[in-house]
Amino acid sequence: MKNRCTLIQASSRSNGDTGIFSNKLRQHFDVNFVDLNALQIGQYDYEEKNRDDDFIPTISNIINISDTIILLTPIYWYTMSGLLKTFLDRFTDLLKNEISTGRKLRGMNLGYMSVSNDENLSYDFEMPVRMSAEYLGMKYLGHEHFSVNGGWVSELSIEKLKKYMDKLTI
Ligand SMILES: Cc1cc2nc3c(=O)[nH]c(=O)nc-3n(C[C@H](O)[C@H](O)[C@H](O)COP(=O)(O)O)c2cc1C
Repeated sequence: MKNRCTLIQASSRSNGDTGIFSNKLRQHFDVNFVDLNALQIGQYDYEEKNRDDDFIPTISNIINISDTIILLTPIYWYTMSGLLKTFLDRFTDLLKNEISTGRKLRGMNLGYMSVSNDENLSYDFEMPVRMSAEYLGMKYLGHEHFSVNGGWVSELSIEKLKKYMDKLTI
């Protein structure tokens, strides 16, 4: 049945700050979990030399079992991690070659979460994902930023997480 939420973690280390945050989220909410750091997903290639890597099986499974996708990235150089950018670039394969799978994104929910050592972001971090959701016909659930410092998710971030997840029916 297609009613699950999939959390896609896009940190360059599986058990770093973003991993600490995703563990907290998964303690309280029942989500399907995908760690991009554990997969082989190559950069977008115009000649589709990556067609046999992990991207298509991973995204196809996510689309088949989920109605909501949450992207979770650390802040690297003021923006999303390279892992997440590569993953999003590969959505181009869905629009060009795997059209029936790509069409299923339309109407799905897309959430966006980020992690750094600070509590707040003071600039328009979310724009690329917000506009990509619009382009893909996905319902954008908004962005929230969370702080992990010294191995702990801040109290304020735990409150923000509860509020964010309240918007979802999982
Ligand atoms: C390559 C790299 C770039 C970073 N750039 C930023 C940045 O632009 N702004 C910021 O606040 N923190 C930045 N940081 C700090 C990370 O956002 C922060 O330590 C985060 O919690 C790391 O999560 P991780 O352990 O999952 O990688 C950067 C860290 C790395 C490794």
